Amino acid sequence: MPIFQTRQQLSEHLAQQRDASLSIGLVPTMGALHDGHLALVKKCLAENDTVVVSIFVNPTQFNSAEDLEKYPRGLESDLKLLDTVSSEIVVFAPTVEAIYGDQPKSQEYEFDGLDKVMEGAFRPGHFNGVGTIVELLLRAVAPHSAYFGEKDFQQLQIIRKLVELQKLPVEIIGCPIERESNGLAMSSRNQRLTDNTRKAAGIIHNCLQTAKSKFGTESANDITEWVKKTFQNNETFDLEYFDIVDELTLTPSQKHLKNLKYRAFIAVYADEVRLIDNLRLN
Ligand code: PAF
Repeated sequence: MPIFQTRQQLSEHLAQQRDASLSIGLVPTMGALHDGHLALVKKCLAENDTVVVSIFVNPTQFNSAEDLEKYPRGLESDLKLLDTVSSEIVVFAPTVEAIYGDQPKSQEYEFDGLDKVMEGAFRPGHFNGVGTIVELLLRAVAPHSAYFGEKDFQQLQIIRKLVELQKLPVEIIGCPIERESNGLAMSSRNQRLTDNTRKAAGIIHNCLQTAKSKFGTESANDITEWVKKTFQNNETFDLEYFDIVDELTLTPSQKHLKNLKYRAFIAVYADEVRLIDNLRLN
């Protein structure tokens, strides 16, 4: 499996693929790979001649040094897992210095308010960090298409905006959320949960499903109150936010307009781990 640590080595390798008119797909990750990532990689393999998987824990998108430090890492096991899918995957696993020099720093973007709500409101600067690394990866790899999971749906919409703003010639492909058997959205952070919490975390997806069943007949406010009450009575999970918003603009739903697509978004803490999820409502 070809593994590169610098942008120069990577682009020299990819230049050969481009010269042979092969299509290139990119799956950006922060490692600690799981079946959710593998689903993206498999889709990317099915749709492209060459697949690049980047593995880089990006410091500029963490707004807590502790969260960055505790983020799970394991390059060896990530490589083994990728090898079970295909030994031809090209891995880009740079060091922080190779990407940022000695001072990791974000660019400032104007995302039309998409970055001011939900994750953006609770994690200031997070999306500038995401935008910075994704722009850098898209420029380094110059893929025809890039694959992102819908678990981070707000991130996906912001990356679409980034591509439009920076006029990057790439197709952004959103892929459905992969779930554990109890409905918990797959995430690298899940491995930090205790077994009991991980089992109980099915409550997050259940809540979203109930919100969906209520959406046709109850107001967004009433549904939000119901979710808050559900978590007030729960000792394991602390609700950070629950919002019903228009999928494109991420603005709150006042009334249900038939031509708009609404989605419910949730963030909760359990065992000091932050878990997010979302579900389309109509
Ligand atoms: O979704 C992620 O894992 C990260 O935010 C991404 C897109 C790889 C950027 O670091």
